[in-house]
Amino acid sequence: MLKFKKIIAEEISKVTNIKSEELETYIEIPKETNNGDYSFPCFRLAKELKKAPQIIATDLKEKIKIVEPITKIEVIGGYLNFFINKEILAKETLEEIENGFGKSEIGKGKNIVIDYSAPNIAKPFHIGHLRSTVIGGALYNIYKQLGYNVTGINHLGDYGTQFGKLIEGYKLWGNEYDIKKDPIEELTKIYIRINEACKNDEQILENCRNNFKKLEDGDSYCLKIWKEFKDLSLKEFQKVYDLLGSKFDSWNGEAFYSDKMPEVIQILEKTGKLVESQGAKIINLEDKGINTPCIIEKSNGSTTYATRDLAAILYRARTYDFDKALYVTSYEQTLHFKQVFEVAKLLGIDEKYTNGLEHISFGMVLLPTGKMSTREGNVVKLNDLLNEAISRAKQIIEQKNPNLENKDEIAKKVGIGAVIFNDLANGRVKDEIFDWDTILNFQGETGPYIQYTYVRTQSVISKAGGVPSFENVKLNKLLDEYSIKIIKLIYNFEDILKQVTDNNEPSILSRYLIDLAKAYSNFYNENKIINDDKETQDARVYLTHAVGEVLRLGANLLGIEMPDKM
Ligand code: ARG
Repeated sequence: MLKFKKIIAEEISKVTNIKSEELETYIEIPKETNNGDYSFPCFRLAKELKKAPQIIATDLKEKIKIVEPITKIEVIGGYLNFFINKEILAKETLEEIENGFGKSEIGKGKNIVIDYSAPNIAKPFHIGHLRSTVIGGALYNIYKQLGYNVTGINHLGDYGTQFGKLIEGYKLWGNEYDIKKDPIEELTKIYIRINEACKNDEQILENCRNNFKKLEDGDSYCLKIWKEFKDLSLKEFQKVYDLLGSKFDSWNGEAFYSDKMPEVIQILEKTGKLVESQGAKIINLEDKGINTPCIIEKSNGSTTYATRDLAAILYRARTYDFDKALYVTSYEQTLHFKQVFEVAKLLGIDEKYTNGLEHISFGMVLLPTGKMSTREGNVVKLNDLLNEAISRAKQIIEQKNPNLENKDEIAKKVGIGAVIFNDLANGRVKDEIFDWDTILNFQGETGPYIQYTYVRTQSVISKAGGVPSFENVKLNKLLDEYSIKIIKLIYNFEDILKQVTDNNEPSILSRYLIDLAKAYSNFYNENKIINDDKETQDARVYLTHAVGEVLRLGANLLGIEMPDKM
């Protein structure tokens, strides 16, 4: 596919002697179609050329040669606006649809590690973990689509002092609970009860602490119970992953780093920065602008969440040689990752690795009942929530299209798609409002709206008797504003994915899919697709096919499946 931005940048480069790679990053896509297809803001060069942007623009317009595919250059204020030959644009774009759309090699040779989902064993999989699972999963797919080598890691919370408590509770009252039947519910009850007991009995608390230490030291009884808790919990989590279609390349949770922490402590000890404080070993980070020290080892010798993350960084650098390592959690863990990333600089690994560490934080999910904390929020169970989404979707489908076949399968795609899209609809740092009527509105800016538009493209194609062959499509039938709007959006697809990875922000793709769906609705309303003029019909049906392909690929990248009917 011809890269229009690149061609424009090269032409500007010829007359300015500034590198075209740099110029290319300045080129924008104007919102108003009157302002051309690409726009170059000349203020970017004002400093270098020591002239006012307007003068630079007029000057450059005179010098730049109008070569194909450029048809016209206009100056508006300090901007140079470029117009591209519409037929070439249409040909380049639709040829891509014919040859397998959306393949890219931007990320070739680069390794990305994404740490996401990571629920905690013996605790509910809550709505904050859902958001991590959905955002992380979308990033995973999008990096992969761009040709990166991606590793998705589920850093399970399967270690820590809480397991000392659970083991003690189980030892004391295990036979009173039917743990196999509803593991997480029952283990939570035990956890609450043992916490109460610890408050009143110093000895019990001591036993709990010792249990975790024993677990870390490999005590067989503790290990056996811990393993059982883990297996039971994973079975529960898998139900949610099956509904969402989530997959991971690695399930190495916190416990995996159990035997890898002594090395971390050794390295840190050698730096002289690891100091004793009230029996614990800590690293002060005040000189780095972080007021809370990072605790590496507790006073009883057991390790911490932070130590395990440090061991994980060392392991991931060695194992995956990552260019970027992303951590998808709520913003509540901002301090934790600041500390860990700072201490990681003491591990003696290449700067490439410490520079590649990035916390991808997201906001809270607000239910109509109020704040749902990602830490304590075990109010709504995720499995229930997802199943509710499916049954609500089924009710709507039942009303709209009572004769539909495979209603259950479609309801699953629509219900789950609605929940996923809602998680990705707005910038991730924003708190998210979870409201059933909004997320399931077929006419709103929602997952179901995108699915609905896709279904419409498929029904247009079947009404027309199939997709016409590309060779017969007359591209000059697609030069009206509604068609061109769609073609331009499709042309920009790779650029959109690149923006997603530059910002680790899947909502850029969600927004794009809404724009594309809306552009198709306008096209559909303004242009008669099934037409007496066969050439016009073929061209419009082909464009409809292209929209369907892009909507489906884009939605799939977000983790949403498309129904054929709804
Ligand atoms: N299990 C943690 C939690 O539920 C999230 C883990 C995130 N990943 C990490 N490497 N710390 O809060």
